[in-house]
Amino acid sequence: MPELLEEQRESWGTRGGFILAAVGSAVGLGNLWGFPYKLYTYGGGAFLIPYILALFIVGIPLLILEFSLGHFTQRAAPDAFRRGHKGFEVIGWWGIILGFVIITYYPVILAYCFSFLGYSIAGIFSGGNLPWAGQGIEGVEKARNFFFDNYLHYHEGLSLGSIQWDIVWMLVVSWLAMYLSIFKGVKLVGKIVWITVPVPWLMLLILAIRGLTLEGSSQGLAYYLQPVWSELAKPTTWRYAFGQVFFSLSLAFGVMITYASFLHRKSDINNNAAIIGLADFATSFVAGLAVFATLGAMAFATQQAGTPVPVENVAKEGPSLAFVAFPYALAQLPYSAWFSFVFFFALITLGIDSAFSITESVLASIVDKTGWRRAIVLPVISVVGLGFGFFYVTQGGLNWLGIVDGFINGTWGIAFLGLLECTTLGWLWRINTLRKHANSRSDWRLGWWWDYLIRIVIPILLGTLFFWQLFDDLAAESGFIKMPDGKWNLANLVGLGIVSIAPVIAIILTIVKGKGENEHQVEKDLPTDGTGEGIGVFASSVIAAGVFVALIFTDQMKSYILWVIFGMAILSTLGVLYSSYLVDKHGNSRNEASWFVRWAGLIFVLDVSAFLAIALNLLTKAVKTEKAEPVVREMMSGISMIVLTAALVLIVGGLGWCFYKAIAAAATEKTMEIQAPEED
Ligand code: PFF
Repeated sequence: MPELLEEQRESWGTRGGFILAAVGSAVGLGNLWGFPYKLYTYGGGAFLIPYILALFIVGIPLLILEFSLGHFTQRAAPDAFRRGHKGFEVIGWWGIILGFVIITYYPVILAYCFSFLGYSIAGIFSGGNLPWAGQGIEGVEKARNFFFDNYLHYHEGLSLGSIQWDIVWMLVVSWLAMYLSIFKGVKLVGKIVWITVPVPWLMLLILAIRGLTLEGSSQGLAYYLQPVWSELAKPTTWRYAFGQVFFSLSLAFGVMITYASFLHRKSDINNNAAIIGLADFATSFVAGLAVFATLGAMAFATQQAGTPVPVENVAKEGPSLAFVAFPYALAQLPYSAWFSFVFFFALITLGIDSAFSITESVLASIVDKTGWRRAIVLPVISVVGLGFGFFYVTQGGLNWLGIVDGFINGTWGIAFLGLLECTTLGWLWRINTLRKHANSRSDWRLGWWWDYLIRIVIPILLGTLFFWQLFDDLAAESGFIKMPDGKWNLANLVGLGIVSIAPVIAIILTIVKGKGENEHQVEKDLPTDGTGEGIGVFASSVIAAGVFVALIFTDQMKSYILWVIFGMAILSTLGVLYSSYLVDKHGNSRNEASWFVRWAGLIFVLDVSAFLAIALNLLTKAVKTEKAEPVVREMMSGISMIVLTAALVLIVGGLGWCFYKAIAAAATEKTMEIQAPEED
């Protein structure tokens, strides 16, 4: 059936066009802005462990899953999910709505970048004068004041205050740039990304080489790469590592499904996904080198000038790294206005293709469902997105931006959506159909292990993180919902409101009838098999869930509780394996395993996650209460060299292997022959 749709559907001009567009979506503000400061904050080199695990075990396999789903169905996310069952459409819309929330604030950061680019250009023309430049610690204060007071007119707290019109105009510029990039369809996007992907890479390379060749840079690198192992015992570290991989690879919001839906039928899926995942990691890593080498050079320069500013003083800026710490550091070094220009130009070109990839995915989802014309839907999305952006260009806007972003990229947004995505496709639909599809189009093949990764390993990892973070949130001293002084925690309530309204809207959009044509996209239900056994395992999975609920209300400090938890985790794991066996036994091309079995597997996966999370919560309590050792990260030591080498080997080796495969396949024209999908 998808073959029929091929003729009507637009497609990327070339393989390179698609890869670059997907890389363009993945590589964005998250790489140059988010990755370096998260790595620094959550354990330096130690953060790379959860990050690399998340990339290889969750990120790249899920990228393959999303590509395969989009390519197989040739539809944007909601319709693609609908292919399996009418009800699954909800998951597609859920991601699209949260994606829409991202494009209400992501262009606001782009707007800041446009403004700072303007200041840098003015600086170049006025002999290198940058408005935030200053000396010593007072200089850092000046840079901070410039961004928060002069530019944002920022105020603490939750009230919005007045709209900042200077930023509004830049926001309009951002939206205009996004609109012009996609209004002609993906063919044009496939061309634009030939500029928006290589240009920021070049800029990053310039910044990195320059940073690394300045004196004092290794001091900064020590801050970046030296591991702080104790950070690994905190759920937040893991949550941020996994969240960063999801956000960075643009997973769970339907973008990659939509992009792959425009992919020509004769396209490699697995290798493309690996290239994109590794290229994204490489960009983040090099961005970190550029940022921290420059901060090290800044520390050295300020020391020489007799007004020392240690790396730590600016690196702790966290989220305002891009607009306070880094501009300040550049201002301490020669040719500051030129390099500020390079930095903000890199940010803009990085961010623009990520921003329009979300817009494209929202657009394609609406067009696929309603059959309305792009030329009408795109302006409406742009105006509505811009309108919501006004909330963030107020005096309290940045605060709200942080709150909304935290919820979307935190446990309640991305992790939960990822969990839903793989449990639905892994248990409720036939995951091996997607694997076979991916394999039939790829020059290296996924084994059966991939099915179990999607069905069991990834959901257990994401589920454990979800519950672990949930316990942590609910136990927060500041009060997650109600604060110690009895007042409601408004920020969290609004955040929760946004993430919980998404499924409601998603359900409504699913119920609303589309133009009707996509009805044939829903696969016919096959007769089900194995109901008898299914009822038994289903009941057991529900009982295990009941035990978990009971545990929550029990005094968990009793010594035997940990044994109960581990016992239940093991029993539930056996439940997962047995359900998985039953799903495979009863599901084939003629039959489908009973819904009882499939739901049992899904519930058992959640049970395992919940028990593991509760155990981790108890075990790490001790670590959390321990007073943290002061972190000394002064010069690069042997261990940071090891971290550096390991990351580089992984990136260069991985990319080298993927490109070798792609070139070898192209040479033998292996990708040109569409192999017949394997039979069940
Ligand atoms: N991957 C982009 C970044 O790292 O900045 C952001 C992003 C794009 C997130 C698209 C989500 C998305 F759907």
